[in-house]
Amino acid sequence: MEFKEVVGRRRSIRYFQSWRQVEREKIQVMLEAARLASCAVNATFLKAVVVVRDQLDHDTLEALKTPVSGLNIELAPVHIYTYADMGAYVGAQGRLKKLVDVGALNATHGWSHKFVDDFVWPNILKPLADGATQASVAGAAASDAGIAICQAMLAAVDEGLGVCLSAFVHEPIAKIVNPPKDWLPLWVLLVGYPAESWEAGGQRPRPPMEEQFFEGKYGNGFKPDPKVTEQLKAAKMIQAPAPLPWRKDEIKALARMFGLPE
Ligand SMILES: Cc1cc2nc3c(=O)[nH]c(=O)nc-3n(C[C@H](O)[C@H](O)[C@H](O)COP(=O)(O)O)c2cc1C
Repeated sequence: MEFKEVVGRRRSIRYFQSWRQVEREKIQVMLEAARLASCAVNATFLKAVVVVRDQLDHDTLEALKTPVSGLNIELAPVHIYTYADMGAYVGAQGRLKKLVDVGALNATHGWSHKFVDDFVWPNILKPLADGATQASVAGAAASDAGIAICQAMLAAVDEGLGVCLSAFVHEPIAKIVNPPKDWLPLWVLLVGYPAESWEAGGQRPRPPMEEQFFEGKYGNGFKPDPKVTEQLKAAKMIQAPAPLPWRKDEIKALARMFGLPE
């Protein structure tokens, strides 16, 4: 699938073919997409543990559910528990030097091993590694993890899978996956084959572009060019908005199939 169409087809899937396992190869594709994501100071904050739902005992599965994610968690055959490794800055000095060695960070931009040791490490990385500015670490970690998770989600869509990022209760799964102490729990990325149509009722509502993005200064909304909008429709990045006319009937049918309230 072309990139723009992958972006256009992604939406949160909440009805999975709960009986159908996902091929391990496809999970690997998702993890590879996440691994290749851009990461602050090459520190790779995102850590994740892949768990097959059917390997969880009943009590653990029940305990994981939040009121806003319970059914998603139950129906998804694969759970990828995501964490931000708050210790990822430790060792970043070496990883930055490696970027210098491979020609990613260059003298043209002021980079050298000496610059990393004499400036970046003492002024930027060490205070972060020491946890002096937790808010900055959290900001970097959230952005870093979000980008990587997003790439995994798009890779999943490209593989014909459905995904939904969801909240989870941390303690019950921690007993099983045993995350290190400095891993901050984020979200569970639920994966499976969609039981709903891939359209899932259409693209979900968003605020107009000019309310979310600005040009030059806040208040000066970024006005989309209608010609580009048409091109994106042709490339299937912009798709029919929810609700599609048959969505209510689809939900009714899904409710009956899964024995859920209508
Ligand atoms: C960080 C994050 C957390 C989310 N948590 C939940 C959740 O707990 N339960 C849920 O049903 N959807 C969850 N979602 C999915 C959003 O509700 C979803 O993005 C929204 O419905 C917009 O629709 P779309 O993803 O289909 O475009 C989450 C999404 C993100 C990015």
